[in-house]
Amino acid sequence: MSRNPTDNCVDVDLVVNGEELRVRIEPTKTLLELLRELLGLTGTKCGCGIGECGACTVLLDDRPVNACLVLAGQVNGGRVRTVEGLAVDGQLHPVQEAFIAEHAVQCGYCTPGMIMSAVGLLEQESNPSDDQIKRALAGNLCRCTGYERILRAVRRAAGRQHAERQDG
Ligand code: FES
Ligand code: FES
Repeated sequence: MSRNPTDNCVDVDLVVNGEELRVRIEPTKTLLELLRELLGLTGTKCGCGIGECGACTVLLDDRPVNACLVLAGQVNGGRVRTVEGLAVDGQLHPVQEAFIAEHAVQCGYCTPGMIMSAVGLLEQESNPSDDQIKRALAGNLCRCTGYERILRAVRRAAGRQHAERQDG
């Protein structure tokens, strides 16, 4: 990362959804602002902006983080994944499919963050218990769907992923 003396911005090198990028950004901007405003990746939502709601959850080096709490400069050299990067060749990720199948979406505002937290969990633990799922989603708030359907969706995705790994 280098600072440009003319505009006080910094150059940040990072990988977003598999694409290597260099962005110039003010050092006080957050990863959330980088994604939404600079890159146009508006799938990641801004709910509270203070780390309370989880709507802005993305994966940073495979770990879920609140993008509103991470400064853009902190991701220099990092690998970020957002909801836009989940589908492959037009095929939704199993967690996305499970949210649809279980009707775990109403307004959808929390959904990208929920899904990224669930993906982060399932990559670490392919067959999580309900307690593990609840802990992983504890930082993601939903005000309309109700958590039971969301829990069922993650369970469904886990079952499928688990079965696929055992078959493979
Ligand atoms: Fe980041 Fe709410 S917008 S936690
Ligand atoms: Fe509306 Fe969760 S679906 S906040």
